[in-house]
Amino acid sequence: MAAAYKVLKNTAKAGNAIIGAGVYSAVLQSGEAWKEKVIKIGNNTDDPWLDYVNLFQKSPLLQNNIHTPCVDRVYIDHQSEYYVANMEQLDTHTDFDNDLKLELCDSIKNLVMGEETKEEFRETWAEYSEFFPSGIDHFFLLTDEIERETDCFTFDDEEEWDGVDDYARKLDLHAANIMFRNNCVVITDPWCTLRVEDNPSMEDYIDKSDDKDIEYQCHIWSN
Ligand SMILES: Nc1ncnc2c1ncn2[C@@H]1O[C@H](COP(=O)(O)OP(=O)(O)O)[C@@H](O)[C@H]1O
Ligand SMILES: [Mg+2]
Repeated sequence: MAAAYKVLKNTAKAGNAIIGAGVYSAVLQSGEAWKEKVIKIGNNTDDPWLDYVNLFQKSPLLQNNIHTPCVDRVYIDHQSEYYVANMEQLDTHTDFDNDLKLELCDSIKNLVMGEETKEEFRETWAEYSEFFPSGIDHFFLLTDEIERETDCFTFDDEEEWDGVDDYARKLDLHAANIMFRNNCVVITDPWCTLRVEDNPSMEDYIDKSDDKDIEYQCHIWSN
């Protein structure tokens, strides 16, 4: 944990702006903005994001799936409990209004939860081809795989799982974990673990830090 904060401080100090954070990680814009690359620094090497990257990089079904993020490199230090990944920069916004984006994120979550059928999903979103430039079936290849690899979908699943294994993959498909590449939907971080509340939050650390190097650069998103 301490090592993750140290890496975060050094990376920010080197001129990479902190542009996003969640419980497990902080994301910094890497070098010049036009390169559209980010560095993701994680504070837990059991972060299921690492499983996700492994899944879409190794699964023959997901080779070149445009709805997964392009991750160039991942360095994992299990002993010091941190990881550093280099990946493409994605957008939180689309050219459509924010309500539509939130509706889309909800719909994706419902689809994976089995609360919305593929037919219903297709009917709602077919006219928004910008979100699915290779067609909705191409998107379903990813959502099917996420569904297959999810351990806990609901609170009841969690209760049942309790005690078996702390590292179950719990579905975490909210709007902050779905991003966009020129309006194309990209699922960035589909899972958390059951013990997510016990994990010290990188976001809180950044919010509370009075270190001048550890500052959240929100303005990056506003242009
Ligand atoms: N490739 C990316 N480009 C730009 N910002 C990103 C990218 N990946 C994640 N972010 C931002 O960083 C936040 C945290 O990243 P995320 O992958 O969700 O990790 P976690 O929530 O486990 O810490 C996201 O909510 C998002 O705002
Ligand atoms: Mg997240």
